[in-house]
This record gives sequence, structure tokens and C-alpha cells, in this order.
Amino acid sequence: MTFRAIIAPAAVLLLLLPACRTEAPTPGADGRTMSPAGQNGQLINIAHRGASGHAPENTLPAFDLSLDMQADYFELDVYLTRDGVPVVLHDPTLERTTRGPAESCTGEVGDKTLAQIRSCEAGSWFNAEFPAAARPEYASGVAIPTLEEVFQRFGRRANYLIEIKQPQKVPGVEEKVLELYERYGLRKPAEEGWQVVTQSFSEESMRKMHALAPELPLIQLLYSRETSESIRGMLDGIRDYAIGIGPYKNTVDAAVVQAVHERCLQIFPYTVNEPQEMTALLALGVDGIISNFPDRLNDVLGEQRERKAHPGCPTRRGSAALEGASGVGAR
Ligand code: G3P
Ligand code: CA
Repeated sequence: MTFRAIIAPAAVLLLLLPACRTEAPTPGADGRTMSPAGQNGQLINIAHRGASGHAPENTLPAFDLSLDMQADYFELDVYLTRDGVPVVLHDPTLERTTRGPAESCTGEVGDKTLAQIRSCEAGSWFNAEFPAAARPEYASGVAIPTLEEVFQRFGRRANYLIEIKQPQKVPGVEEKVLELYERYGLRKPAEEGWQVVTQSFSEESMRKMHALAPELPLIQLLYSRETSESIRGMLDGIRDYAIGIGPYKNTVDAAVVQAVHERCLQIFPYTVNEPQEMTALLALGVDGIISNFPDRLNDVLGEQRERKAHPGCPTRRGSAALEGASGVGAR
């Protein structure tokens, strides 16, 4: 083989490498990166409020840990503060998961300013509540993060499931969240590769988001009061604006899974923490699972990560996160 025969292909390869690298999330300073999730029809492991079985929910340590535990996505909850800043917290009130000055750290998050939220810490409750998982660093100033701080920390090296909470309390959360996707270069990866998926129990909020950004992947969350029959009755409406549903685990049966897939939708039940429950839902054919324990879910998944194919569902453009053998994502 001549020198030219070796060097020419190598040069072409070198030229192509930077372009290839931009396809995947880039590692952060600490090197941790989530893979583009669900490629090749893989089942999706979603860390609920981060790895919240092991670290204080909806905090940077819980999100860090979800990357360490090789979740495919982390989920988080977003409210607007009174002065219109998206912050990450689950409950509408601050009492359960934060500590600090009572005037700032009790009551509704939507009644507080960002400055007030900054004075609350969000880790020490976890050590008291879950002594077996307690760590000293959780009691030393873990903050309620803003959504912007989450994007600043993880950028394109994570996949996000973002839940909009109480959209009626402080209007405009959809626009603010979308603006942050844009600012952090996540809107296009969301639309083309589902790197960011947005969800809510509020149909109104999801329809508004769909009107603002018709290509953005959305999940309609469903309450535990729903039944198999009521869920099946909603799917044709949901298909107008969302790529799938997030039902409560006990409302999922074979008929729901079949009806979801017949419409080329996705199904990600919440919140599934026990291995037996995980196994049962996977046997029904769900597309992924939301769990406080992504490590347990990975143990259950083992090597068996392939989703069932659903022939006949149109293929989405792009081929990155969450796209499966089912050609999922058709609206
Ligand atoms: O992603 C599903 C789940 O987060 C919805 O319930 O109350 O934990 O936000 P909740
Ligand atoms: Ca949530």
C-alpha cells in the first residue's frame, strides 16, 4: 500500500471528526455525559427529579448522580418565581424540601422572588428524612437551582425531561422555558433529537407550548385517578400536540400500551421504584420508565434494552435521542 493510499483516507477522516463530535453531547469538565438516549430503539431510563432516591430531589447533586448512574434522561420540575424566573422544585410550597428564613422559605414558590429563593437550602431535609442515604455535603448549602443554572452546568451533555408546574400561578412559564432552550442551544436538539422533552399535567400548558413551538416533543402527564379506559379515550386528542403520555404506573395495562402504540405515541409510566413493578411494566411493552432509582432500573434492564418495533409508524427526521425502531414521534 502506498503512502498516499494511507494518508488520503486518514486526512478525510480527520476533516470529518469535528463534525462527528458535534452530533453527541460534549463532556463537561468532570467528564460525565449522557449518551444520546434511546438510539436504535432502546428503552429509556429517566431519573425522576434526578437520582432522587439517593440525593435531594431536584438539586444539582441529584442530577450529577443520575449521570453517574447512567440514566438516559433526568426529570425536573419548574415553577416561575413571583419575579418570573424559572426555578427547579417539586412542591408548590417550600416547606417540605427547603430550610431557611420562614418569610422566604415557607409558602408558595410563586409568591417568592428569586432573591428569597436564593436564601433557602434544599438538601438538609433529605438527610433527616433518609438517614441511610444521608451525606454531609447534602447539609452544606445545596441550593434550589434555577433552570438556567441546570443548563449552564449540563448544557448538551445531558438529556432533559422538563415538567412545567402550576402554569396558571405566574403566567408566561412556557415562553420563559422556551427562551432558555433557545439561549442554551437546546431547542434544535430538542426538536430534531428529543434531547429535551417537555411535559405537564396541564393540557392547556402543553397546547400552548405546541402552538409556540410545534416541533417541540411534548408528553401529556396523566393523573393517578385515570383508568385504562379513560386514558384510551384521551389518546386521539393528545396525539394532536404530544409525542406521548406519562401515566401513573398503576393505570397502565396491555390495552393502554397497545392503544398508545397504535397511534405511534410513547408511554413512560411514573414513578416506578420497585424491581418487580419495573419488570411487569417492561413486559407490557412500555417505552421507558421514570424512577427515583435509575441504578435499580439499569439492573433490571441489564442487556435487554431493546424496545419492541411498531411497524407502520412514520419515521421522524433526525436520528438522535429517543428515536426508536418504532419510528416514534409521529404526530
Ligand atoms: O414525570 C412524572 C412525574 O414527575 C409526575 O409526578 O408529582 O413527581 O411531578 P410528580
Ligand atoms: Ca415531575
